[in-house]
Amino acid sequence: MAIFASSTTDVPLTSAVPRHVAIIMDGNGRWANKRLMPRIAGHHRGVDTVRGTVKCCLERGIEYLTLFAFSSENWRRPPEEVSLLMQLFVRVLQEEVTRLARNGVCLRVVGDLGRFDPHLQSLIRASERRTATNDRLILTVAANYGGRWDILQALNRMLKEHPEKRDHWDEEDLTLYLSMHFAPEPDLFIRTGGEQRISNFLLWQLAYSELYFTETLWPEFDARAFDAALTWYQQRERRFGRTSEQLAPRLPEMSSKC
Ligand code: IPE
Ligand code: IPE
Ligand code: MG
Repeated sequence: MAIFASSTTDVPLTSAVPRHVAIIMDGNGRWANKRLMPRIAGHHRGVDTVRGTVKCCLERGIEYLTLFAFSSENWRRPPEEVSLLMQLFVRVLQEEVTRLARNGVCLRVVGDLGRFDPHLQSLIRASERRTATNDRLILTVAANYGGRWDILQALNRMLKEHPEKRDHWDEEDLTLYLSMHFAPEPDLFIRTGGEQRISNFLLWQLAYSELYFTETLWPEFDARAFDAALTWYQQRERRFGRTSEQLAPRLPEMSSKC
């Protein structure tokens, strides 16, 4: 049984504060280039922004934060940058998990982790285990993640485990096998760094998310910038296919005596 409403088979309940925020953290390299620093310096500053964003989510009662840290296409970058990013990932896990655990954050990592160094893989699994019982904020990091990979791995596992359902799969069957099966669909998607594209992020889950793009580079995306995105989100009318009239609260009927 799926735990969360699908935006296409049901109309999900919405509220002023998004339940799930998913972010493409883009612009680290440009931030560093502007300062004549190596790109990796931008990634280091980006980690500070991650810390600040987690704090914001905890303070504002956001339940799920999903961060795109490394895409399945990022292997195409120069080997030196990839290797430095992997080292940074290891360091961040070693240094930040205690703080996350103390703050009630449950850390999950989604993606095709098999391509990572075994040491990194075991560090990921250990960090997940250490925070597994926390539920104040579910922080998901997408690493070697691609939306197409996710849909394909889900399809393959579903077909293998339930070949008897061959002719009558439905949405719910598939979503149970997707990497983000433990979370509702994102209410708010944010991409920093000025590009207006999805870059193979949560292709299935973004069906009805509100899409917010900002020029702000990820290392500069502070609490104010995050709040601007939340304020923008509050002004959206989430119709899920319906009309505005259907959403407007009905005025009380006028008495015939007036
Ligand atoms: C995003 O910043 C971080 C990763 C993809 C790991 P970029 O490294 O893409 O920064 P820009 O887009 O080159 O500025
Ligand atoms: C998307 O950023 C992936 C991450 C932030 C991890 P990119 O910088 O790799 O995206 P493109 O290549 O500009 O689309
Ligand atoms: Mg980029």
